[in-house]
Amino acid sequence: MKLSVLSVASEAVPLVKTGGLADVAGALPAAVAPYGVAMTTLLPGYPAVMQAIGAKRNGGRTLHSYNSLLGEPARLVAAKLGGHPLIVLDAPNFFARPGSPYGDPAGKDWADNWRRYAALGRVAADLAGGAVKGRKFDLLHAHDWQAAMAPAYLRFAPVAKSRAVPSVMTIHNMAFQGHFGREIFGQLGLPKAAWSIEGVEYHKGVGFLKAGMEAASAVTTVSPTYAGEIRDPEFGMGLEGIITSRGDQVRGIVNGIDTAEWNPESDEALAANYSARTLAKRVANKRALEMVFGLEKGDGPIFIVVSRLTWQKGMDVLLEVIDHLVGIGGRLALLGSGDPAIEEDFRAAALRHPGRIGIRIGYDEALAHRMQGGGDAILVPSRFEPCGLTQLYGLAYGCVPVVARTGGLADTVIDANLAATAAGAGTGIQFAGVNYRALAMAVSRAVALYHQPDVWKAIQRNGMKADFSWSRSGKAYADLYQQLVAASR
Ligand code: ADP
Ligand code: GLC
Repeated sequence: MKLSVLSVASEAVPLVKTGGLADVAGALPAAVAPYGVAMTTLLPGYPAVMQAIGAKRNGGRTLHSYNSLLGEPARLVAAKLGGHPLIVLDAPNFFARPGSPYGDPAGKDWADNWRRYAALGRVAADLAGGAVKGRKFDLLHAHDWQAAMAPAYLRFAPVAKSRAVPSVMTIHNMAFQGHFGREIFGQLGLPKAAWSIEGVEYHKGVGFLKAGMEAASAVTTVSPTYAGEIRDPEFGMGLEGIITSRGDQVRGIVNGIDTAEWNPESDEALAANYSARTLAKRVANKRALEMVFGLEKGDGPIFIVVSRLTWQKGMDVLLEVIDHLVGIGGRLALLGSGDPAIEEDFRAAALRHPGRIGIRIGYDEALAHRMQGGGDAILVPSRFEPCGLTQLYGLAYGCVPVVARTGGLADTVIDANLAATAAGAGTGIQFAGVNYRALAMAVSRAVALYHQPDVWKAIQRNGMKADFSWSRSGKAYADLYQQLVAASR
């Protein structure tokens, strides 16, 4: 059966991105299309989005207008996202703001985020419920807390005459839950019945992600290992009870990568294109990387990091290990931004090790590609990682991942231990426990393996040959949609 699915997210490439969620939301329509799913994406009309779809000042094709959407005027504009249908929520009082999607230019979260993303959820539920003529959906797919009120509105306040539409709630990161004070409840436009433990109430306030998890027909997360981990308080962060209570309905579907965007054979950002058969050409990219990061030229390994600079990503532990990394002949090129104290510490480390440590604070998509194409190994020492995409890009580019054994990192990288090496299967290095000793040992192992060129090349090639395209996971989502739609009829 051909299905029509509405996917709602707060970011999607190529229009707006702060992290992996955007990669996934942007890739999903093409991922599920081969399996009979026509996906429409709903996104907030941030300035970058409005500009990209060329719909400034009431331009663009208006599908629907609201006099008051949680108190503000709004309209829905039809556009395209990579050839697939896109609907943009143009609500200037909510979204026409400078800064990131979630906060002001100084990095402080917008105080009315609850209202901005409740509005997004309301609109998604309206669309899925059939409020807009000519748009019919069989299922709603919501991503993360910013979209999580959509299943809740669908359950507790559907549009009049709406059919029962099943929904999927995907958790990309349990650490961000959208938890607000109880005083907002009265302004959400939900019936009193929604104020309950089975509804939106969470620790005496309103929990957006919690509400979506309760209301959705199925809950997924972005790797099988993380789906297991979030049953424990350490990873479930307060929501482990709901995960456990939903039992087998919580499944992990690992993210794919967009192999058109991330392909070393055709990537235009690279100084030299290459494949698993022509790894020697990577050296031109390595030389380019040394230039960009002000690193000494050398034959030793260059470790790279492309990351949000936060506690989740274990960046504080990497800072402790830097002297060791340099001491054993490694160099480091780091691109990222985040916690100001961590940024400052990396700057200081670069000053301490001129020519050995190069730092770029900021966000630079093309540079991220060049680093994967020229670096020897990518470090991902995350304390938790629902899926992680940079290790997948590393695998595709022959930039060997050195990862903590958690979440999607555990599921996507095969440690090149003795057994794996004998079987010709290793694709990277895994270490257990994000602490100085474990990371320092992993870095030492990487340097030692790097100096055995045949072994290292085999690891690179194994990773490059592995299939991390969306085909398997696109089918997994499509199968889940089909099951839920069949069960709802
Ligand atoms: P998360 O979503 O938790 O930040 P992921 O590994 O899933 O982690 O996704 C991060 C995405 O953001 C990847 O596409 C990565 O290349 C990109 N990225 C992260 N930091 C930067 C940066 N400073 N510049 C360019 N791209 C970045
Ligand atoms: C989140 C997670 C990351 C995951 C991404 C896309 O940002 O932190 O692990 O890859 O979402 O699902």
